[in-house]
Amino acid sequence: MSTINKSSSWKALNNHFEKIKLTHMRDLFDNDGDRFNKYHIQYEDFLVDFSKNRITDETLDLLVSLAKEAKLEDWRDRLFSGEKINFTENRSALHIALRNRSNKPILLDGKDIMPNVNKVLAQMKSFSNDVRSGKAQGYTGKKIKSVVNIGIGGSDLGPAMVCDALKSYGTKDIIPHFVSNIDGADIAQTLELCDPETTLFIIASKTFTTQETMTNAYSARSWLLKYLKNQESIKNHFVAISTNEAAVEKFGISKDNMFEFWDWVGGRYSLWSAIGLSIAIFIGMEKFEQLLDGAHDIDNHFKDAPLHENIPVMLALIGVWYINFFKLNTHAVLPYDQGLSLFPSYLQQADMESNGKFIDRNGEKIQYHSGPILWGESGTNGQHAFYQLIHQGTEVIPSDFIMPIHSHYSIGNNGNEHHKILIANFIAQTQSLMMGKTDKEARAELKNQGLDENIIKTLTPHKTFEGNRPSTSILFDKLTPKSLGRLIAIYEHKIFTQGVIWNINSFDQWGVEYGKQIAKLVLPKLIDPNETSGFDSSTNNLINYTKKNI
Ligand code: F6P
Repeated sequence: MSTINKSSSWKALNNHFEKIKLTHMRDLFDNDGDRFNKYHIQYEDFLVDFSKNRITDETLDLLVSLAKEAKLEDWRDRLFSGEKINFTENRSALHIALRNRSNKPILLDGKDIMPNVNKVLAQMKSFSNDVRSGKAQGYTGKKIKSVVNIGIGGSDLGPAMVCDALKSYGTKDIIPHFVSNIDGADIAQTLELCDPETTLFIIASKTFTTQETMTNAYSARSWLLKYLKNQESIKNHFVAISTNEAAVEKFGISKDNMFEFWDWVGGRYSLWSAIGLSIAIFIGMEKFEQLLDGAHDIDNHFKDAPLHENIPVMLALIGVWYINFFKLNTHAVLPYDQGLSLFPSYLQQADMESNGKFIDRNGEKIQYHSGPILWGESGTNGQHAFYQLIHQGTEVIPSDFIMPIHSHYSIGNNGNEHHKILIANFIAQTQSLMMGKTDKEARAELKNQGLDENIIKTLTPHKTFEGNRPSTSILFDKLTPKSLGRLIAIYEHKIFTQGVIWNINSFDQWGVEYGKQIAKLVLPKLIDPNETSGFDSSTNNLINYTKKNI
C-alpha cells in the first residue's frame, strides 16, 4: 500500500517547495495587496488570519489535494459515525458525542449513546447545583468551599486549563484545586490550604488504576479520616469519575457517588465528559453547557465547511507544510491572554500524545515526520523569555498567536489601557516576525541615532532580522465558555486532520506505557536494601546512589 509521501500531491508539494522556499513574505504582501482577504477565515466572531504564512494559492491547492488523497473527508465521516478508528484498542473516538447539542442519535454497536451522555450530564447538573447551593454538605454539615480534583493527563489538564481560563465566571465561594503529580509536594501543599470539613475530593481517572492518581487519592482519604475519623464521612467528601465501577467501589466510593464515562472517550479528549465536573461546580452547569455548545459549533463547522474554508483543516495543512516540507519540527502556541496560560500545556498532551507516533496504521515505520514538538507561553511574558530565538534564532518556529479582542478587565487609561497594549504587542510580533529588518534598515536606524561609523558597522549585523518567520493569528471577541469550547475543538480537529494525513492512529498512547512498566521494576529495587545490579550500569548506580543517600 503506497504511503502518503509517495502520493502525487506530496511530490507536487516537494517541487512547489523548491520553487517557493526562498520567497520572502514581504514580497508576497508587496505583490498582493489583497493577501489578507484571500488568506483568512471568518467564523462568527472568530477571525483566523493565516496570511502571514509562507503559502500561495498553489500551496493551499496542493495541500487540499493532499488531504483529499489522504481521504480526509472519509476519515472525518468515520470519526463522527463512531467507527472504531482507534483500532489498536478497538475503540471509537466519540468525544463529539459528549457535546452533541443536537441530541441526534449517535449509534455505537447499534445502540444510541446519547441517553447515557444526557444521563451523566443531568447527574453533573444536579450534583454541581447541590454543591454550589450548599445542599450537598460535608460530613459535619458545612458547605463545600474547596474542590480538589485528583487526576493526571487528560483527567487533569483539561479541567485545570478550563477553570483557569474561565476564572472570571467562577464562583467566589468555591476554590478549585488540581493535584496531579506523584511528588508529595503537590498534594501536601494543596491540603495545607484545605479544611477537611469543607473539602470535596474528585478522583478523576478513566482507568482508576493510574499510579499517581490512586496514590494521591489514598493520601487524601487518609488525610480526611485523620480529622473526621468515621469511614461514613467518605460519602460526603469523595466522588469518582471513571469507567471502572469495580475499582471505584474497591476504593470505598459508592456507585451513587460515581460519574461514569466510557472507553470511547480518550483521556485527552475527555474534559467534555464528567471529567469536567470540577468545571461545572466552579462556573456552574449552565456555563459548562455553553462550553459544550462552542465545541459543537466547531464540530459542525469541521464537518460541513469546504476544506479551503475549514479552520481546523487549514491549520492542520499549514502545519503539515512546515513539518514535512520545510522540515520544521516544533510549533509554538502563544496565547495573548493570561487566562489561557495553561492552554499550551493542555495542547501538549492533546497534540503530542495523539500524534507523537512513528508507526502508521499498517504497522510500518513512517518515512516522514509526524507530530511536532508543541510548546508555548502566554504573551507578553514569552516576549521576555524566548522571543529572541523566535526572531533571530537559527530555528524557524511556526507560531499560533491567539487573542480575545475584549478583556474581562478594564484597567488602565489615557493610552495605557492594558488590553490595548496587549493587542499592540500581539499584532507587532506577528508583523515583525514576518517583515524582519534588513541590514539597510538596521544601519539607517543606527545612523539616525547619531552613532559613529565603527559602532554602526559592528552593531548592524546583530540588529538585522531575517523575518519570513510564519505565524497564524486567531482572534475572537472575548474568552467566554462558548469561545473557549470553540477554540479547543478547533485544535482537536486540527490534530485529527494531521493524524489522517500521516496515516497514524491519533487515539491510542502505547508510548506512555513503557516508562510506567520500568518504574514498577525500579520501585521495589529502591526499597530493597541490597545492592541493585539487574539493570545497566547507569540505572544500577542511580538506584544504589539514591538508596545510599535517601
Ligand atoms: O498519559 C497516559 C494516560 O493514559 C493519558 O492518556 C490519560 O489522560 C492519563 O494517563 C490518565 O489516565 P486515567 O484517566 O486513566 O487516570
